[in-house]
Amino acid sequence: MPTTRSDKVLVIGGGGREHALAWALAHSLDVAHVYVAPGNAGTHWAASDTAAAASNVPLAADDLPALLAFAQANQIALTVVGPEQPLAAGIVDRFQAAGMPIFGPTQAASELEVSKSFAKAFMQQHGIPTAAYASFTDYEAARAYLLERAREVAPQPYGVVVKADGLAAGKGVLVCATAAEAVTALHSIMVERVFGAAGERVVIEERIAGAEVSVMGVSDGSTVIALPAVRDHKRVYEGDEGLNTGGMGAFTPVPDVDSSLLHTVEQQVLQPVIDGMAARGTPYVGVLYAGLMLTEQGLRVLEFNCRFGDPEAQTLAPLIRNLYGTLQACVQGTLTRLDLELLQGACATIVLTAPGYPGTYPTGAPISGLDRSYPHVTLFHAGTALAADGQIVTNAGRVLAVSGIGATLPEALDHCYAAVDQIHFKDMHFRRDIGRTKR
Ligand code: AMP
Ligand code: GLY
Repeated sequence: MPTTRSDKVLVIGGGGREHALAWALAHSLDVAHVYVAPGNAGTHWAASDTAAAASNVPLAADDLPALLAFAQANQIALTVVGPEQPLAAGIVDRFQAAGMPIFGPTQAASELEVSKSFAKAFMQQHGIPTAAYASFTDYEAARAYLLERAREVAPQPYGVVVKADGLAAGKGVLVCATAAEAVTALHSIMVERVFGAAGERVVIEERIAGAEVSVMGVSDGSTVIALPAVRDHKRVYEGDEGLNTGGMGAFTPVPDVDSSLLHTVEQQVLQPVIDGMAARGTPYVGVLYAGLMLTEQGLRVLEFNCRFGDPEAQTLAPLIRNLYGTLQACVQGTLTRLDLELLQGACATIVLTAPGYPGTYPTGAPISGLDRSYPHVTLFHAGTALAADGQIVTNAGRVLAVSGIGATLPEALDHCYAAVDQIHFKDMHFRRDIGRTKR
């Protein structure tokens, strides 16, 4: 059936998540063109029978006035914000004040990600299950609390998690097994300020244990719909060894999260957040990302993010048929009338990184294998750039995300790795065990 594609959309950001969002929007009904600001070497293509065209706009994701001016000048029907920084800086408030439709939470609603102490106090107030905690702005008081905890729990094993309150690019969380370790962590955050101003305040949490899972809900401020649960792999090496990264891969469905558990997450976590934020006068419109731990005592929230996960978005995008309609329903307040159209089956994402990531790494390495298509696979660019000679080269730590779909998870993984084996750049690193280990 022919469709009329009339709407222009703008995606803000330039990573793998934004490529995936742009791709899914281009494949949605009604979208005529997708702009990506600033985008990467993968976020531009010509229109096809199944997708609208996409092109890059050379504007930084934090240049709010220029982004608004672009949206106004080009009559953008919907702007979709990828990363958290523009949300924290109030891009949604600014677009709303100018009457421009935008998908994402306001600055006040973004506090759920921007301040861990805000999120913890909010959860406590609204009965949302989370680990016990205390919050401090004074180093000596926090240190005394850590030592006091050590006396209280002895002879039980000690376990606390010290978290910088503010945004720290996913690095501000230190899991500690001894009081000495915890004091060192506290010192680095509050005194040495290794995460800058994010460490003006700390949250100290009881350490809990269990498998982790991410559940993202889309909300229009009163209704929330949970997207399929996704599990990401944060550690850099196979067997979940090595440093934490932004994410080395992800997959869905997650074997230990059935539809009844997803429903419980909706009822015990997502809906109470949406209701509580509305009651405060700061309604939450956008994606609410809940990082959860499945403990022996039940599920617990580890964190909230106010945006799609990366690489979780690359795992969900190939499965959502009507992303544009869904995000529009959120902005228009009509989510109760929406049918989320999901492809049945599994999707997995393998992240290909530069050597050395998440530490220092080289850029500028030519990438081969990008000029062909792979069955059941979509390649999402993350850190790529177009060199002067037209060659696509590496440009960041996480370079590509290879997403494959299949009837089952093993089938999806086989499709991914068949493609990964054809893609090369110097000293490319990836994990072969995505979807095959516990967390
Ligand atoms: P967050 O950024 O708050 O999700 O924390 C990053 C990682 O730290 C999580 O994915 C967990 O692996 C770990 N973590 C955070 N909070 C706790 C906790 N209370 N107990 C145990 N591990 C935690
Ligand atoms: N993959 C975790 C995140 O996006 O925060």
